[in-house]
Amino acid sequence: ALVSMKDMLIKAKAEGYAVGQFNINNLEWTQAILQAAEEEKSPVILGVSEGAGKYMGGFITVVKIVEGLIESYKITVPVAIHLDHGSSFDKCKEAIDAGFTSVMIDASHHSFEENVAITKEVVEYAHAKNVSVEAELGTVGGEEDGVIGGIMYANPQECKALVEATAIDCLAPALGSVHGPYKGEPNLGFAEMEEISTLTDLPLVLHGGTGIPTKDIQRSISLGTAKINVNTENQIAATKAIREFLDNDKKTYDPRKFLGPAREAIKTTVIGKMREFGSSQKA
Ligand code: G3H
Ligand code: ZN
Repeated sequence: ALVSMKDMLIKAKAEGYAVGQFNINNLEWTQAILQAAEEEKSPVILGVSEGAGKYMGGFITVVKIVEGLIESYKITVPVAIHLDHGSSFDKCKEAIDAGFTSVMIDASHHSFEENVAITKEVVEYAHAKNVSVEAELGTVGGEEDGVIGGIMYANPQECKALVEATAIDCLAPALGSVHGPYKGEPNLGFAEMEEISTLTDLPLVLHGGTGIPTKDIQRSISLGTAKINVNTENQIAATKAIREFLDNDKKTYDPRKFLGPAREAIKTTVIGKMREFGSSQKA
């Protein structure tokens, strides 16, 4: 069933696991992630970046694909369609009006005061329609929506102030994670994570889930992280499968012959993450 992230994440935080947000790019991605969730009996969040939404034909098309698959595959686990790194109130509104059940407003590159003001506007619109809202403070490293940035840790007192001023449902405090592969081991701010979790009493979100060692995943979950975003790892797995197929076969022209293995590779990756995050059998 299509639901917001609110109850999913409250339950996850209370029971000590994290729900995965897996980004989708097309039909096969959506199929793979929904199949993985149903097989694992895991709640799941389908992340849709603005770029991916545009690529798939617009937010309305995304919603109809997801709704269609939920019906055809008889999906029974909770599924959220979530705008990933929404860049403005207007983009969040567009996603909500199209039927998204959750949005992230990422105003982290604005001043703190502007971040609060924009996030508040989104929460008012979203909550009236039972849509959950994620906000961000600090800066995730690597490429974030085409902007290559350095890492900036979130300030715990600002996190507390943002949560109190806006009534968001979950918070992504950037604490050293990076979008895309890590150069070496990540250096996550666990002390800040614990402090922010205590100060805000909200489920925390960990962006840049690709390449974080299991011990750091487990520690993050124990310190209040209830949602972990993974994108790059599925892209690498899917592209590897397609490349292997095409490198060995110069004759095939039916795209299903190589998109099928890519879909399987995504499904296998997602199942692995659900078990690692502890969300399997929690739906
Ligand atoms: O918002 C999406 C995530 O933070 C994905 O990060 O591509 O490094 O797994 P990743
Ligand atoms: Zn992210």
